[in-house]
Amino acid sequence: MRIGILTGGGDCPGLNAAIRAVAKSLILNHKARIIGIEQGFRGLIEQQVRPLSYADCSGILNMGGTILGTHNSADPFNYKGQDVSIQVLDYYHKLGLDGLVVIGGDGTMAIAHSLAGLGINVVGMPKTIDNDLMCTDRTFGFDTAVSIVTDGIDRLRTTGQSHRRVMILETMGRYAGWIALHAGMAGGADVILIPEFPYSIEEVAKACKNRMGEQHYSVLVVAEGAMPSGGHMTIRESLDTSPDPVRLGGIGNVLKHQLENLIDAEVRSTCLGHIQRGGSPTAFDRIFATQLGSYAASLVANREFGKLVVMQNNQLSSVPLAQVATQSKKVDGHDLTFQSALAMGISFGLPSPANS
Ligand code: F6P
Repeated sequence: MRIGILTGGGDCPGLNAAIRAVAKSLILNHKARIIGIEQGFRGLIEQQVRPLSYADCSGILNMGGTILGTHNSADPFNYKGQDVSIQVLDYYHKLGLDGLVVIGGDGTMAIAHSLAGLGINVVGMPKTIDNDLMCTDRTFGFDTAVSIVTDGIDRLRTTGQSHRRVMILETMGRYAGWIALHAGMAGGADVILIPEFPYSIEEVAKACKNRMGEQHYSVLVVAEGAMPSGGHMTIRESLDTSPDPVRLGGIGNVLKHQLENLIDAEVRSTCLGHIQRGGSPTAFDRIFATQLGSYAASLVANREFGKLVVMQNNQLSSVPLAQVATQSKKVDGHDLTFQSALAMGISFGLPSPANS
């Protein structure tokens, strides 16, 4: 059996643990030959692959990034304006592959689903710090990102407290608020602003003033995709849609300027950026990526293709790729963490009925 592995989209902590789990399980239990595909789908397009031995996959469990490299805009169906998917299919056959394990987020799974439609045997594995993949309770990489952001909040708290300032921390997450919500909870933020609930700046200012009166400082966490109520496009969307985006400095800075006009306190904004997805995975992400990887290997061995490995109610299972290819998972009002945050008095800047 010859199996290809690729990592697509933005990197995240735990990718090497996942590669290691798939490769070692298939080599140990099925004597498979593993072909590592470099730079995501770009390796299939540009024909850059290399064999991955058992030894190649040893000593990488705790490493950040991906030993295979990745790419977040190499789509065989639209590569530099051309559909090269048939060349990719030919190359897959030329490599003699019996299957392909694709490790990625929603964009990568959409491509994987289309390749499955051409007859490529695909098994998907869910990764992304954003935790926004449908049908799975979580994705690996998320836990590490939340830990890093929580550490950032802890650090901003002590300096904010010393200077009696309003401290803003901008997180990643693209169009979903999972990182901001979970890290905001773990770090005891006073205000959490997420894309799912456009915020009223007046309500945010009110929450800061209340808090400043009692504690003399506050900590705000804002997801990069958050936007004021009545806004039309998030800064994240404008970065994604404009071919030559104007770098405005992110929603954290926008919020800083908005707040400075409304409250009598110094405001500082910090953007953690790619720090959130670099470096070593947490123990949880190493274990989770390994569980997903060995399950993916069993799907491959059983020739159950066209599926994504998922975690649902603490059990591993799989769903058809079609189910995850078109939508992403958002925080909703019934979410347990959101509900607990509300119960703890954390403000989401929700417009009061009178303002809406
Ligand atoms: O999807 C992961 C992610 O880190 C998002 O949170 C963020 O919006 C985006 O990727 C950043 O992408 P890039 O690596 O292209 O800057």
